[in-house]
Amino acid sequence: MVTPVQLSIPTELDMQALGRDLARLARPGDLIILDGPLGAGKTLPTQGIGAGLTVNGAIISPTFVIARIHRSLVAGPDLIHVDAYRLGEAALLDDLDLEALMPGAVTVIEWGKGLAEQLSADHLLVEIARSDDPLDDTRLVTVSPRGPRWDNLWDQWQSLVNDDMGRDAQADARGDEDD
Ligand SMILES: Nc1ncnc2c1ncn2[C@@H]1O[C@H](COP(=O)(O)OP(=O)(O)OP(=O)(O)O)[C@@H](O)[C@H]1O
Ligand SMILES: [Mg+2]
Repeated sequence: MVTPVQLSIPTELDMQALGRDLARLARPGDLIILDGPLGAGKTLPTQGIGAGLTVNGAIISPTFVIARIHRSLVAGPDLIHVDAYRLGEAALLDDLDLEALMPGAVTVIEWGKGLAEQLSADHLLVEIARSDDPLDDTRLVTVSPRGPRWDNLWDQWQSLVNDDMGRDAQADARGDEDD
């Protein structure tokens, strides 16, 4: 089994860059589940995924809209962006009938942990936590592959993160620190 990667993400721009890295690996039919408390920074990587895929429309945390489809501008996969905060139960996620749309899109579900796994056994779970220090904006992000699709991408993902973000994700995962 592949070990989750833990990252320290200092800024909003780095969080969007994480999303762009994910977009480079994502294929139609993929599901990415984002978790973390209000204001953790779930929409920022979603924006990066949208930018990486090149889709239309502004990607925002919808207040009343539960799901939005951002169409590809480059004949690639669309982005389905779901905010499950108000859904509360998996049955309501079923009512959105995403299954019909998902094969042509990359689906990102904020607040999806515990609800969205039913949509695809193969998915990537991205958990975002704030630092314990309220003055520190750094986010601690744990990226966990679920199922063979993401297990098989794991080496590629690690080298993308290392190259593009200048981080040693494996060192982070071991909890190493520069002294
Ligand atoms: N390192 C960082 N990573 C992510 N967001 C950061 C960081 N530093 C500061 N922020 C701020 O935290 C907020 C995160 O907002 P965002 O809408 O992405 O969170 P969210 O988890 O989607 O919230 P919601 O649960 O309301 O949808 C933004 O105001 C952003 O500017
Ligand atoms: Mg959000």
